Amino acid sequence: MRLLVTGGAGFIGSAFVRRRLRATDDSVVVLDKLTYAGNRDNLAECEREPSLAARFRFVRGDICDPAAVEPLVAEVDAVVNFAAESHVDRSIIDDAAFLRTGVMGVHLLLEAVRAAQHPVRFVQVSTDEIYGEVAEGLSVESDALRPRSPYAAAKASGEMLAAAYYVTHGTDVVITRGANTFGPFQHPEKIVPLFITNALDDQPLPLYGDGRQERDWLFVDDHADAVAFVLDHGASGEAYNVPGHGRRFNRDLTAQILEMLNKPWSLVRSVSDRPGHDLRYAMDGAKLAHLGWRPQTALEDGLAETVDWFQSNSDWWRRAKSGDWASYYDEQYGWRLAESVEA
Ligand code: NAD
Ligand code: TYD
Repeated sequence: MRLLVTGGAGFIGSAFVRRRLRATDDSVVVLDKLTYAGNRDNLAECEREPSLAARFRFVRGDICDPAAVEPLVAEVDAVVNFAAESHVDRSIIDDAAFLRTGVMGVHLLLEAVRAAQHPVRFVQVSTDEIYGEVAEGLSVESDALRPRSPYAAAKASGEMLAAAYYVTHGTDVVITRGANTFGPFQHPEKIVPLFITNALDDQPLPLYGDGRQERDWLFVDDHADAVAFVLDHGASGEAYNVPGHGRRFNRDLTAQILEMLNKPWSLVRSVSDRPGHDLRYAMDGAKLAHLGWRPQTALEDGLAETVDWFQSNSDWWRRAKSGDWASYYDEQYGWRLAESVEA
């Protein structure tokens, strides 16, 4: 297959590209804008190893730019769209880029797929956050979408547009709804890498509220493999939940990270909560399991691999924590840490 992977220089997209090139004979073109979250180093092995490099190409560009998108879509069999602004906290500060990429960008990709002279499958990588907070039980794919953050609203809009193209235009669309993902190469703005890297530097870990919010944790290789599985086997027009392998309260996850690093709980500070913070996400994975896929990596194993990776790759994460990082960190956490209390 010839694939166009949009957002392929980010955390999950780059894992997908690295694994797909090794597991198949597919060729891959990555289109990525290289925002603060995109990093070409995440794809270094694809450019370095001749057996992968022969089937790989990187193009810097924006999914909202028809001149970049249309010629690339015209030469592939499938588009796998990871491109998005992905951090809830940043969507609370300023959501314009979330809507631009998550709605208009998806629209432009769908239009290019529709205009292609041959069949092109479109995979929209979505999230469990489109269901909103799930007080109890498990979300199933037919549940209503009740997004509660600007990030989740943009993601819900993007996937609803894709589903509408399936119904209206017969576009071959499949949707994945992945759980909270963690692993090597994740930008340090997200809780797992933020807490690992802050702890390595003996800096405070800002835990929102009482830390009794619950997330289902999915290792990045599993997420990438689930997207590949849905690309290959998903039924057109369908959405698939991709749950993780372990639900945890944030405070218990934090304790586990500190234990692996042999660092004290006293680093953890309880800070002012995220507005509209979803207390719990939990999905039923039966539909995807029935098709033949389940997550493989236990949370403890994935976390140990992730902690090891961040310990061994400080150059990578120190670069991600340079440039605009200080002003983001100050805006997001400065006042929170100043008012923080013991966790
Ligand atoms: P990320 O922020 O690490 O990567 C996003 C990538 O998209 C970056 O490389 C960025 O440069 C690129 N990008 C952003 N805007 C673009 C544009 N307009 N044109 C081209 N490229 C653009 O995100 P991630 O964590 O790897 O998430 C990937 C996808 O998976 C997103 O769609 C996200 O909503 C979804 N998802 C993430 C998680 C998670 O826990 N991280 C869970 C479920 C679903
Ligand atoms: P995050 O990694 O931002 O993912 P999401 O908001 O998409 O679930 O956050 C995961 C959980 O960790 C979420 O409940 C918010 C919480 N959190 C903190 O307590 N402190 C932090 O500094 C961050 C970034 C997140």
